[in-house]
Amino acid sequence: MKHILLPLLLSVTVGLTSGRNITSIGAARPAGRSAETCGNPANTFPFYRMLGGTAEYLYIADTTIVNTELRSAGWTLQTIAGLVFVTQEVSTVPFYRLNLKAGGEIFYTANTTELTNALNNGYSLAINDPEVYIYPTQICGSVPFYYLKNAVKKGNFYTVSESERLAFIANEGYTDVEIAGYVLPVGGSQCD
Ligand SMILES: *[C@@H]1O[C@H](CO)[C@@H](O)[C@H](O)[C@H]1NC(C)=O
Ligand SMILES: *[C@@H]1O[C@H](CO)[C@@H](O)[C@H](O)[C@H]1NC(C)=O
Repeated sequence: MKHILLPLLLSVTVGLTSGRNITSIGAARPAGRSAETCGNPANTFPFYRMLGGTAEYLYIADTTIVNTELRSAGWTLQTIAGLVFVTQEVSTVPFYRLNLKAGGEIFYTANTTELTNALNNGYSLAINDPEVYIYPTQICGSVPFYYLKNAVKKGNFYTVSESERLAFIANEGYTDVEIAGYVLPVGGSQCD
């Protein structure tokens, strides 16, 4: 009986997720080991962090925009903040980018209550957004994407780096707001 159940379970799992290519994800996971259903890490893109002015941080996964519009407009490419999905994969949610017209403040959220609040307070969604998707909980090897704010500079800063988070609190006048969501780390592990 046991020998019949396993293939049955496997075929049910494959059947439920058909339409997605899970060859390299689900099928490789030993049956019954985890309830996590993950997006395909092979479909992630670098989430580039760019700085404009003193505290205007822009995160973007579109290399064309990074290389054409932004760099020529005076934005500085700083780092890859993490890896994100550009199409909605299983278990991911939209990570909305909002712009405050007056002041140019840029704000990201995966929380629909915060999205509604922001839209009611002068923010507007960036064109073509949501353009990236992240995990709302820490699953599938993802790491916290910390959100810090500097109310004076009107800066909204996001990082996976614990040391960078602490340095921004100690030296740059930022305070913790929340964990905005969970992204995949560059290089597959988080060490600092
Ligand atoms: C799924 O992905 C694998 C590895 O990339 C590929 O060899 C296979 O043809 C794909 N199958 C389908 C149904 O797209
Ligand atoms: C979403 O944001 C609201 C308002 O800040 C907060 O009360 C709520 O706990 C948040 N939900 C999640 C899942 O973080």
